[in-house]
Amino acid sequence: MFKVGIITSSDKGYKGEREDISGKTIKEMVENFGYRVERYVILPDEEDVLLNEMIYMVDELNLDLILTTGGTGFSKRDVMPEVTIKACHRMANGIAEAIRFHSLSITPRAMLSRAAAGIRKETLIINLPGSPKAVKEALDYILDSVHHGLEILKGQTHDCAR
Ligand code: MTE
Repeated sequence: MFKVGIITSSDKGYKGEREDISGKTIKEMVENFGYRVERYVILPDEEDVLLNEMIYMVDELNLDLILTTGGTGFSKRDVMPEVTIKACHRMANGIAEAIRFHSLSITPRAMLSRAAAGIRKETLIINLPGSPKAVKEALDYILDSVHHGLEILKGQTHDCAR
């Protein structure tokens, strides 16, 4: 069972002015998939705060997968991709591309997500957009392949045959 951390980047969510439906959607979906959510935080759109939490989840908690929501767009306070790139040692661009590819078949606005994905140590970090609808659409599409990627990252399989 892989261990998951969830980071919601939202000034309004952090202040309690908006319910974090996207973070809850992630939690529900990964738990239904059979993963265990070990930490779930709602943070302001602040680069230092987000980076510290991401590094803590990897270096101290040794989580297997970090899923973030929000902060991937064009607003001046959207910094999640930059935080993710700083935290990661190796990028996993295919995952971010796959999310955009799939999402573009649903809405052209998917091009506005600057989301990134990558690996720090043995932890996979994936940015998802902010809206609950986008989170669900993206996770539905990637979870199965992400699971296979995690098995490879953890050395549990080298076999890509189906
Ligand atoms: N992806 C999917 N699958 N579905 C969506 O509705 N919305 C887009 C995009 N990606 C969307 C999506 C919109 S409108 C924006 S502005 C960007 O995600 C960035 O969102 P964020 O800043 O909340 O992270």
